[in-house]
Amino acid sequence: MPTEVISSSLVGKAEYQVQLADVQFNMEPKAYSSGYNKVPFQFTHNLHQLDMFQFDAICRLAKRYATASENDFFVAGSSIAADSSFFAAEHIRLRPSEAIEHLDDKPTRILLKRPENHDPDFRLLLETIVKQLRNFPGGLGGQRIRRVQSSLFITSAAATTALHFDPEVAFFTQIAGDKEYHVYPPTQVPEPELEDFYSRGRVSIGQVSMAALNPAAEQVYKLRAGDGFHQPQNSPHWVQTQATRSISYSLVFETTADKALGLTRAFNHFERKMGMSPAQPGMKPNLDSLKSEVIVPVRFARKVVSKLRNG
Ligand SMILES: [Fe+2]
Repeated sequence: MPTEVISSSLVGKAEYQVQLADVQFNMEPKAYSSGYNKVPFQFTHNLHQLDMFQFDAICRLAKRYATASENDFFVAGSSIAADSSFFAAEHIRLRPSEAIEHLDDKPTRILLKRPENHDPDFRLLLETIVKQLRNFPGGLGGQRIRRVQSSLFITSAAATTALHFDPEVAFFTQIAGDKEYHVYPPTQVPEPELEDFYSRGRVSIGQVSMAALNPAAEQVYKLRAGDGFHQPQNSPHWVQTQATRSISYSLVFETTADKALGLTRAFNHFERKMGMSPAQPGMKPNLDSLKSEVIVPVRFARKVVSKLRNG
């Protein structure tokens, strides 16, 4: 498909403008229109050829996180196993630019969150990809996005990220090194677990037990530079880097419809706690919509009551 460059005052460097103009996701149209936010599917891309993703440029980006809030990055050791607790991995107390220098010392995972807030080229890249996705028939289309962000993963060889799911639609791209990505469709997460997760109203990762998943539903992507894949919201996954250092870039977002679905599940959580059996989301769309609207003031009222009780 033709690539568009978004008119932006951020475009200041001609060489980057040319490179960003060439950014392309090569997706099979049918896979996108029928699989979007339902099942994982693979595609190819050329992001790894951008100057901004060469290792020296990434080291410079990491230095920009020197004074960033600790909410803006995450440095951790390898998970012990695919099915271990996500948060049990060792928290490494290094800034990203320090941790990069020790990637070969021990398995280390560095996550730079929201690079678009630290480098205008990443902002332009994010906008360019979203525009491309909207131009593909079906899928995201013109849906309103209420939250969008990207992440850059810099990981040692032989490091594992334990099983979890994320409350966002993701487009994951491998930039350097090899990564084995194990993913399941979102239907594998039992509905009561999704309801419990969304009842908390926080943006975080969700945990699910490997024992709850059907091994036959697992898909394994052996990603190399130039490979990418689409991960639906709530798709359980675990990841392992291979023999060399890995760099990956992921763009995630939540649409208004995705948010409403989470609110419906939050309502269903309370329904289930009262001994009722809520309808599966999607079975009764009008009721789903009503639930998503009602739960917001109910949740607010509960917070107020809790504050009043606790002084
Ligand atoms: Fe994830």
